[in-house]
Amino acid sequence: MSVNRGKWSSDFGFILAAAGSAIGLGNIWRFPYTVGQYGGGAFILVYLAFVALIGIPVLLAELSVGRSTERSAVGAFKKLVPNSWWPAVGGLGVLCGFGILSFYSVIAGWTLRYFYMALGGRFGDAMTSDESTQIFTELTANPTAAILLAAAFLVLTALVVRGGISGGIERAARVLMPVFLVILLLLVGRSVTLDGASEGFAFLFAFDFSKLSAAAVVSALGQALFSMSLGMGAMITYGSYLNRDDNVPKAAVTVAFFDTGLAMIAGLMIFPALFHAGASPTGGPSLIFIVMATIFNTMPFGSMFAIAFYGLLAIAALTSTISLLEVIVAYFVDEREWSRERATWVVTAACFALAVPSALSFGGSAFFTNMFGGTGFLGMANIVFGNYFLSIGAVLICVFVGWKWGIGNAVAELNRGGNLRAAAVWGALVRYVCPVAVAIVLIYAAFTGNYL
Ligand code: PFF
Repeated sequence: MSVNRGKWSSDFGFILAAAGSAIGLGNIWRFPYTVGQYGGGAFILVYLAFVALIGIPVLLAELSVGRSTERSAVGAFKKLVPNSWWPAVGGLGVLCGFGILSFYSVIAGWTLRYFYMALGGRFGDAMTSDESTQIFTELTANPTAAILLAAAFLVLTALVVRGGISGGIERAARVLMPVFLVILLLLVGRSVTLDGASEGFAFLFAFDFSKLSAAAVVSALGQALFSMSLGMGAMITYGSYLNRDDNVPKAAVTVAFFDTGLAMIAGLMIFPALFHAGASPTGGPSLIFIVMATIFNTMPFGSMFAIAFYGLLAIAALTSTISLLEVIVAYFVDEREWSRERATWVVTAACFALAVPSALSFGGSAFFTNMFGGTGFLGMANIVFGNYFLSIGAVLICVFVGWKWGIGNAVAELNRGGNLRAAAVWGALVRYVCPVAVAIVLIYAAFTGNYL
């Protein structure tokens, strides 16, 4: 077995990398538009409950499996229960990594193009929403541009992943995460001091429970798992590079805190700006590209803020695509004994092939755009991998830790180097609450088709 898998140089390095994985387009792209779609504050409350009751327990479960085995998603199950079907759960995770990375890199590719346009001063002048829509449509419907941008983003990701754990992933996170934080705080500072910002706060913090449909609850769960990078073994993989004496419970809570905090801060960045410009908060997935692009010119130094905003998105996306690619690469390194270099490039090429239909599903090809009743290939990949696979994966991981490997083993692992407080509560959450709650939501979603 591969002896030289690599390790984080410290638990702080792990926290940065894991927070980088968690904080991504999910926080800045998906969270704000889902909040917009489901009416603000009440959705956020449900989201927070899911983070506490499901997200953090599953995160601890994944990390304990990873560190105890020092293996990535498939190998971890193999090591704990050889000759069983459990490694298939890891296999599902690797597949899910492929699926998410393929569509994620398309959206991440758009951020590169917007960043480039911002550098050229494109968002400094007044822009009507028709013009902004046209820019977005022209970019996303252009097959060559969309495909090349996704390819560029995948290559950027591969260049980091090929460098290994401490020399590639951790090193990138050490630079990118502080830059990310500084830019985000700068942008929030700008946004909350705009005229009309208070309407944005009112929207975010209005607890109107009448807007809280079952679909909103389902969506909040999918979002919590997606945002914390759970249910596909990313945290098993990242956990496998932890040192024996690292404090895992503390690191997990820190990562969860940052991920959730930054989703809120992204809300504080986007909604005040939206209301300032008189735009509608229910802008859908194109919110950050179409609506935000019309707003910068209403701010002093708007073109600089546009550069910062799209740069921020690209950075957030990159630290997440790195973790998605790592899940798959680690499988080939651990289980197939490929060199990291070879695994990185072969997997990147395969992901690129799967990214093409996603890149073509915004008008580039009528077939991929209109398929699945108009949801399109990317839309469907987002639902299937970003919601269903993650939820199914989360249930299976909880059942594994709670009923197969055993809470006792997991707690002993988490207490090595750390101190898991309320271990009994955690055990009950992993054994009963998480699997049952996620299963109910999944079944409801499957029957109503409400899992967007
Ligand atoms: N957590 C990332 C985000 O919020 O954008 C997306 C993601 C990364 C999901 C890694 C799953 C994963 F394994």
